[in-house]
Amino acid sequence: MKKQAIGIFDSGIGGTSIWKEIAIALPNEDTIYLADSKFAPYGKRSQEEIISLSIKNTKKLLELNCKIIVVACNTATTNAIKTLRSQFDVPFIGIEPAIKPAALKTKTKKIGILATKGTLSSELFATTSDLYTNNTEVIEVIGTGLVELIEAGKIYGEEMFTLLSSYIRPLVEKNIDYLVLGCSHYPYLIPVLKKILPKNIIIIDSGEAVARQTKVILSNNDLLNENASEGSHIFFTNGRLSVLQNIVKKTNITTDANQLEF
Ligand code: DGL
Repeated sequence: MKKQAIGIFDSGIGGTSIWKEIAIALPNEDTIYLADSKFAPYGKRSQEEIISLSIKNTKKLLELNCKIIVVACNTATTNAIKTLRSQFDVPFIGIEPAIKPAALKTKTKKIGILATKGTLSSELFATTSDLYTNNTEVIEVIGTGLVELIEAGKIYGEEMFTLLSSYIRPLVEKNIDYLVLGCSHYPYLIPVLKKILPKNIIIIDSGEAVARQTKVILSNNDLLNENASEGSHIFFTNGRLSVLQNIVKKTNITTDANQLEF
């Protein structure tokens, strides 16, 4: 079982930002990534739909013989991970907005969070946010349209800059000092965000924390691959192959990307 791959899924290509951290932290592990781009964005969907898509993706990854599932999507984690854990007998790692580190470090006592409607309206997010943000104002912004532009490969254009600026400006005016990226697509916006944000505002995402947690859970379950050789990385998308290929080729990690109906 140790030699089986780590399965990772997201509503699209965004979770590759998490995959990259996992590939760096666990270089001997094989990975299989599912980009469910055909059904993106999840953020606008009902909880029932998000649960049923997450079950579909999990079944596919288990069919492909994965030993652990990383839900590399905040929207799927906050809406579906409880159900997944109750229905499947395999360890799951989820991703949630990094509210806690931001709340611990903020000096202005104001933090911004950019995420999907599905994440911000979930019960799990409300619980985490309440738990860690005593005396801190959390200003939530729904990133409507951002995932669609990223999925279309339009990260660096004028359209993205204008839309993102309209979401970020009110946060800057409110004097936040931390911006939490609560969607695994958004780390790809960091170069654009850096042009918009004043230098004193720190951006936080959850990629490295998820990779660390994946290592801990694999080790606790005696599932770490003991191979000395480098792992292989296979990607499947039910959307546009070229968009996925363009995003993963920037990592300089050898990958094999394919189209698949699922
Ligand atoms: N990448 C996703 C997340 O982390 C989902 C975005 C979407 O499909 O709306 O929330």
